[in-house]
Amino acid sequence: MGPQEQSNWWRDATVYQIYPRSFADTNGDGIGDLRGVADRAAYLAALGVDAVWLSPFYPSKLADGGYDVDDYRNVDPRIGTLVDFDAMVAAIHEVGLRVVVDVVPNHTGSSHPWFQEALAAGPGSKARARYHFRTGRGPGGAEPPSDWDSIFGGSAWEPVGAGQFYLHFYAKEQPDLNWDNPEVRQDFLQTLRFWADRGVDGFRIDVAHGLAKDLSADPLPSQAEIDEIGPGPTHPLWDRDEVHSIYAEWREVFDSYDPPRAAVGEVWVDDPARRARYATPAGLGQAFNFDLLRAPFEAADYRAIVARNLAQAALTGSTSTWVLSNHDVIRHRTRFGLPQLRDPSAAQELGQAWLRSNGIEPPEDRRTGLARARAATLFVLALPGSAYLYQGEELGLPEVADLPDSARQDPAFFRSGGREVGRDGARVPLPWKRTGTSFGFGDDGAHLPQPPWYGQFSVEAEAGRPGSTLEIYRQALALRRRLRDTEELTWIDAPADVLHFRRSDAWRCVTNFAAGAKPRPAGRLMMASGPLGPKHEIPAHTTLWLSD
Ligand code: NOJ
Repeated sequence: MGPQEQSNWWRDATVYQIYPRSFADTNGDGIGDLRGVADRAAYLAALGVDAVWLSPFYPSKLADGGYDVDDYRNVDPRIGTLVDFDAMVAAIHEVGLRVVVDVVPNHTGSSHPWFQEALAAGPGSKARARYHFRTGRGPGGAEPPSDWDSIFGGSAWEPVGAGQFYLHFYAKEQPDLNWDNPEVRQDFLQTLRFWADRGVDGFRIDVAHGLAKDLSADPLPSQAEIDEIGPGPTHPLWDRDEVHSIYAEWREVFDSYDPPRAAVGEVWVDDPARRARYATPAGLGQAFNFDLLRAPFEAADYRAIVARNLAQAALTGSTSTWVLSNHDVIRHRTRFGLPQLRDPSAAQELGQAWLRSNGIEPPEDRRTGLARARAATLFVLALPGSAYLYQGEELGLPEVADLPDSARQDPAFFRSGGREVGRDGARVPLPWKRTGTSFGFGDDGAHLPQPPWYGQFSVEAEAGRPGSTLEIYRQALALRRRLRDTEELTWIDAPADVLHFRRSDAWRCVTNFAAGAKPRPAGRLMMASGPLGPKHEIPAHTTLWLSD
């Protein structure tokens, strides 16, 4: 591999997201671990992905699935040790894949030594200045400093006594850091170097659009006022311009390595032009684009999203990312089996209502869901840019909707009083075997209960079975590796509900989004996302890859 390829690997990479606690458990404690990842390196290589991204494996009280980090430069003892981490990186590198780790800079865990020190130190202290502490309103400061909501429900302010509150945009165990504090900035540079020195190839940055905050107004604006403003330079919390000075410093660190370390920001900013600012070469280099994850399975929506994001990526010299599933949303196989709504908040509400009903109402059409999911995946894998896959989607795994409340772990469930059922259904440990204790996940149970039907979606059940979702992913990923060479995409005229585009003479992708068959364009069939009908047709909800 030449030096150019070495540093640009991320531009068209297929990255497989591992949620470590639910991937593979080697010590029988019901929690996945780093040895489990190392042991499955051959599986990941055979799948044909280019890199793995690990969600947090750091010491944590698990108030938010590990996104409450208590020590940024260590491994949770339940997941392994730093020695296991090094062995895992070696095993992944050995099979030719790269490793991306998660950085969680917006907030620490509440057991982080800094936060414990801040609680002990009292108002006005240096220790509290690493976070956002404020005096409450009203008599004795009993009222929170503002009416801001936490994203997981309830107030974004938690009282600590003596009329003092701290800010937490997520769970109360996730106090927000103050990024105006030089010590905070220095410490994260050290964390980046710590993992880069251990050989990680890239970083995924959690809540990348939230670090810079302006809490100088007195009184603070109300929730209604800031909702009105929307993310951007004048919003006190989200997507402020100053955030980019943080990433400029990080970029210096990334570029001090050979090859430079890659980064992708989790940026929940709708305006693609504002989102693109995170993806400049002087910044993180790439930003997540969640547009497809929130779109209905409709040709017009897909086409507009692709066109918009490719144009934006080109402006900054970056490439786009494509995501259909991750650990925060209902698995796309299930999402596509529910009614397709265009308004993302209505779609989110529908999904939550469905989860609240234990997956009963509205009924999930699993067959259509799977056909659309595979068709969407093949569509995405044919696009220029990088594709992020979430563990289990290669098995066509449905969301587990009927978890008992007693098993739930997601703070969104607790903080919303059950109104938001949360994300546990996408985080149930993977089935590796048809039968047996925890379906081959480990030697004992699984930290979130697996349903009885899980075994039919196991790696064992699907590997080598022609037409299984796993075999379709393997075939597609192998072809994508061979065929991707340019970053060009050209649309080809197609009937309504069909999208057809060319990547090269050797690679065209055509997707039928409709519920009925459509005419098949000429060309040699390389692969299909599902069973084929008559030769001249593209079956309903199907993608074909063709060559001239
Ligand atoms: C985004 C992560 O993907 C999500 O899982 C987490 O709850 C929040 N950030 C807070 O860290």
